[in-house]
Amino acid sequence: MRMYDLIMKKRNGTALSKEEINYMIEGYTAGKIPDYQMSAMMMAIYFQGMSEEETFALTMAMAESGDMLDLSDIHGIKVDKHSTGGVGDKTSLALTPMVAAAGVPVAKMSGRGLGHTGGTIDKLESFTGFSTAISERQFKDNVNRIGIAIMGQTADLAPADKKLYALRDVTATVDNMSLIASSIMSKKLAAGADAIVLDVKTGSGAFMKKEEDSFALAREMVKLGNGAGRKTIAVISDMDQPLGYAVGNALEVQEAIDTLKGSGPKDFVELCMTLGSYMLVAGGKAADRKEAEQILANVIQNGSALDKLAEFVEAQGGDKELVYHPERLPKASYVQEIKSPADGYVQKIVCDEIGICSLILGGGRETKESRIDLSVGLVLHKKAGDQVKKGDSLATIHANDQTKLEMAKERFLNAYTIGGQPVEKKPLIRGIVMK
Ligand code: URA
Repeated sequence: MRMYDLIMKKRNGTALSKEEINYMIEGYTAGKIPDYQMSAMMMAIYFQGMSEEETFALTMAMAESGDMLDLSDIHGIKVDKHSTGGVGDKTSLALTPMVAAAGVPVAKMSGRGLGHTGGTIDKLESFTGFSTAISERQFKDNVNRIGIAIMGQTADLAPADKKLYALRDVTATVDNMSLIASSIMSKKLAAGADAIVLDVKTGSGAFMKKEEDSFALAREMVKLGNGAGRKTIAVISDMDQPLGYAVGNALEVQEAIDTLKGSGPKDFVELCMTLGSYMLVAGGKAADRKEAEQILANVIQNGSALDKLAEFVEAQGGDKELVYHPERLPKASYVQEIKSPADGYVQKIVCDEIGICSLILGGGRETKESRIDLSVGLVLHKKAGDQVKKGDSLATIHANDQTKLEMAKERFLNAYTIGGQPVEKKPLIRGIVMK
């Protein structure tokens, strides 16, 4: 077999066989197929798509490209959660300690920022010393001891996806349904949890912009998960505007901490409650979602979810004092308000543009090698449907470079549509897919 022939076959619209997909994934993982050929293949897949059979074969080939974790020596039903990626999506930072504090073991694998979206690992690194590069042994021990561990993709876990994820991030090949579904589900299958709750984003800040595509992606992933013997549920949630108010690594950590202290933004709290209640039911801790939501409200009220975050940060080498003193998190040198140019209502926010503002400020990667600036980003003050007066602050921008600040500010203002007519606020949760 030759990679050249496979690229041509896919480029011309013919489906790849399981053997061909295995050859390609094994070769790429072993470094025998170079990035430039794989980039061409990703672009061919982007335009030609993949059948259900091809997507399943790709998922299994990537899941099996390294170790498949066996979590059977961790007590209880292990639940994992994954988001398809969005702007201001700091859900795992608040949700996983909530669920762990409620007694469901969270064994989670997370990723870094991708395209215009942020990643949980980058955000968690705002805690000085924190590392997700932990061994399998430590991962399991931490889940058994404190009920929560988050690991990054090690060289041994779905290494094919790790390489491909970084490649797609810089070759404009992220937003393809089969590539997203196989990327997420290969990691989830390799990471070994018994149940998986997926947060599938929809809207201008998501990789899937149209609701019907998000539902299709959800169905595809739920089918892949259930087909591989893991109970999988998907929640489709709004990403037509950033989640909560904060966008940017340390700023989002601060907002997650506020949420665990009981003063989180309404939409963010609703999402944590929805995903968390499905996780508690799947983990056997609650008979139904109503009971689950009560348990989750209690762990916020009694402070145990915040303490769980501190315990988790410390167990993975981070400075837990930052959980109790978030004012010591990384800070940017320039903080400026972005003022509304007119009276009216925020009618629309082009959400991925807000993610790009954070990228421009240094909060994301331009190339595979870029280092990110944890302190920069934006805190919104007005969201879709809100009334504004000319001169009101739409957002506070946090930057370390004046030129980047000006660029991001201009882009931010172009992303907001302010008009005379009030608009209806859209619901956050758009639907649930269970099979
Ligand atoms: N998250 C992933 O893990 N992979 C993708 O392709 C997109 C979002």
